[in-house]
Amino acid sequence: MNIILLGPPGAGKGTQARLLVEKRDMVQLSTGDMLRDARTSGTEMGKVVAEVMDKGHLVTDEIVIGLIREKLESGKAGGGYIFDGFPRTLAQADALGSLLSELGQKLDRVVEMQVDDEALVARITARSTCGNCGEVYNDNTKPIPADHVCSSCGKKAEFKRRADDNADSLKTRLLAYYKQTSPLIGYYYAKGRLTSIDGLASMAKVEASMAAALDA
Ligand code: AP5
Repeated sequence: MNIILLGPPGAGKGTQARLLVEKRDMVQLSTGDMLRDARTSGTEMGKVVAEVMDKGHLVTDEIVIGLIREKLESGKAGGGYIFDGFPRTLAQADALGSLLSELGQKLDRVVEMQVDDEALVARITARSTCGNCGEVYNDNTKPIPADHVCSSCGKKAEFKRRADDNADSLKTRLLAYYKQTSPLIGYYYAKGRLTSIDGLASMAKVEASMAAALDA
């Protein structure tokens, strides 16, 4: 099963994607993670990407479509792919449709995670991730363990905050979501692929709604 997790920054896409990887043997394709890897590469492309991301703007369609193409052409996903943070524009959505059909695959479901803006700001400014495995923590709902041993990988870790998790970048990221990404809600609704769930509920409830959306 191939699915898209659609939602604004902080909606909980990454958190739910990691649960689906664990429980359904799916492969998470996060363009945000791929771009964060690219920016540490020291290449010219990495430098451009870092500047764009830190300001909260979208990286060009050409770059992200190229990254996804590379992953789809080189990999295999037993339980299917979770597209996390991709597509984010109509051009990316069209490109994904073409890529999947070139590979003889299809998109099964798009799950829109609905969360109001105030909650997003609170979530994003309290977020940190394990430097070893990327497990996502939150000062309010899932605090970093006192001994700094990650509950997911079991290693003593450095817990990192993202450079774009600040109030200024977040405003730009939200604007980008409403202007460039939210039209995808109508796009996938029209294709009969969309299910919307309440992303404001507790993590356990969101996980249950996600399972219901995928198993419907
Ligand atoms: P990306 O890395 O994709 O970030 P994002 O979409 O802004 O989403 P986030 O990772 O911030 O949030 P999330 O929804 O995964 O939430 P999480 O689970 O962490 O993109 C970053 C940048 O890369 C973009 O701005 C852009 O520049 C570039 N980029 C990426 N893809 C691109 C593309 N396709 N095209 C162009 N540019 C692209 O949860 C957030 C917090 O909330 C955590 O602390 C978590 O613990 C907590 N939380 C989660 N669920 C709950 C819950 N149910 N209740 C309470 N707390 C919760």
